[in-house]
Amino acid sequence: MAITLAFDVYGTLIDTHGVVTKLEELLGDRARDFSSTWRDKQLEYSFRRGLMQNYENFAVCTRDALDYTCSRFAVDIPPDQKRALLETYRELPAFDDAEPALTDLRARDCRLFAFSNGAAAAVETLLSAAGIREHFLGVVSCDDVKSFKPNPAVYAHFLSRADATGDEAWLISGNPFDVIGAISAGMRAAWVRRSEDSIFDPWGIEPTVTVTSLRDLADAIGI
Ligand code: LAC
Repeated sequence: MAITLAFDVYGTLIDTHGVVTKLEELLGDRARDFSSTWRDKQLEYSFRRGLMQNYENFAVCTRDALDYTCSRFAVDIPPDQKRALLETYRELPAFDDAEPALTDLRARDCRLFAFSNGAAAAVETLLSAAGIREHFLGVVSCDDVKSFKPNPAVYAHFLSRADATGDEAWLISGNPFDVIGAISAGMRAAWVRRSEDSIFDPWGIEPTVTVTSLRDLADAIGI
């Protein structure tokens, strides 16, 4: 049976800090910190909505987190500029290693899926704009089950949609909470440690493998 790989999207294939250039026009050297807070808050809102069972599309978490971050940084971004920022978020760039790694993995007969908190249509748009959509057999969205990672139900949904079992399916993610969620739900998981500063949460659950680039994935997994 071919190995099934579930690629997380934001922070793994797609660089959420691709919005920094646009933010620099508005915030100068505070742009990177603003981008980090925006991303952290977006995820926090998804966790909280999941716990509260008060589901809204991931794009709502992104929009609300932008509003929060503007208040936190005491910056008044006019509505048309906010719309432009959210538009940029819909077409963020892929990390440089994504295209060559996906091409290689596809040639090795792996079954590749994108698996994201983002709604399917948004993820389709994002991957197409980044030029990597063709590598995937499909897009599986947590929106189908109206919840977010790391709810175990979303990983079960992935396995069901991909017609795979946990011991033959890997999550590939740059997000430690996602890796821990997938392993807890019975999958294997590779952590893509995209920055030396990133810390894996000390929860007593370790990634099955750790790589610093998607290019090292095939060797690390042994395919
Ligand atoms: C995703 C999140 C984790 O793409 O950003 O699912």
